[in-house]
Amino acid sequence: MSRSSGYAIKAVDLGVRYNLRLTRKTTVRTSVANFVLRRPPQRFWALRHVSIELSHGESLGVIGPNGAGKSTLLQVLAGIMRPSEGAVDVRGQVSGLLGLGAGFDPELSGVENILLGGAFLGLDDVKVHELLPSIIEFAGLGDFIDAPLKTYSAGMRARLGFAIATAVDPDILLLDEVLATGDANFRAKSKERVIELVRAAKGVVLVTHDMEWVREYCNRALLLEKGRVVLEGAPDEVVKLHLDRTAEEAAARHAAALAAGIDPAALAGARGGGRR
Ligand SMILES: Nc1ncnc2c1ncn2[C@@H]1O[C@H](COP(=O)(O)OP(=O)(O)OP(=O)(O)O)[C@@H](O)[C@H]1O
Ligand SMILES: [Mg+2]
Repeated sequence: MSRSSGYAIKAVDLGVRYNLRLTRKTTVRTSVANFVLRRPPQRFWALRHVSIELSHGESLGVIGPNGAGKSTLLQVLAGIMRPSEGAVDVRGQVSGLLGLGAGFDPELSGVENILLGGAFLGLDDVKVHELLPSIIEFAGLGDFIDAPLKTYSAGMRARLGFAIATAVDPDILLLDEVLATGDANFRAKSKERVIELVRAAKGVVLVTHDMEWVREYCNRALLLEKGRVVLEGAPDEVVKLHLDRTAEEAAARHAAALAAGIDPAALAGARGGGRR
């Protein structure tokens, strides 16, 4: 149970509605098609009626299938996106890594991106230069730290982003699937750092498809599906429900495919939502 006062994050009845017409490129062809076909505006709720309270010293794991609204939720918590409905209050300095390459300049080197990232996080020049050696050391990129970011692999970007986001000693850390591309060494190192932050009474919200991480390192978990909270509570319980529902859905799809005379094996590769 979270404490009612001294929260780090409090979100009440959040809703985010996307307008697909506005967010996708509108070409002459699509506008004509929309008009001729009398298509209704394509609006949908990517997130709805989501309430969260996170205390300092808590680590919340957010899980759910692809497209459930996890990244949308983190963007709202980070203040990058304004919710269409509801309110969010975040207390303390927020730092995060929301997607690979977010906030980076591909033409600049690793070091230059650290300086830039530090400035974005509100650090002054002296502080950034003070932190520079430890960020470089944590990222562990060797000579690549002086190469332009566009030459980095996904895992190398994750290393750099994570090193910057956590070096500033934030009160609240938001991580969206950061560990997925990291190798075993880096995952171990970053897990340690997240644990340190939680011990130091910081708040962590982590979006991941890695159920082991949620079970081992989160105090609480939240299962999102189609923008709604299905269950919030003890990690073991929430993870189990998610895995059960994923298995049920796979079985239902398999049965539907068989009934329609389609080879279920052909469907397995056709959909990207099969990760654990
Ligand atoms: N800018 C946008 N405009 C329109 N729809 C969007 C936009 N961003 C996301 N969506 C839609 O909102 C829904 C939630 O997306 P979101 O990225 O939050 O899912 P997610 O849970 O993070 O998925 P994943 O596990 O694949 O990362 C999806 O249906 C997605 O297509
Ligand atoms: Mg996402």
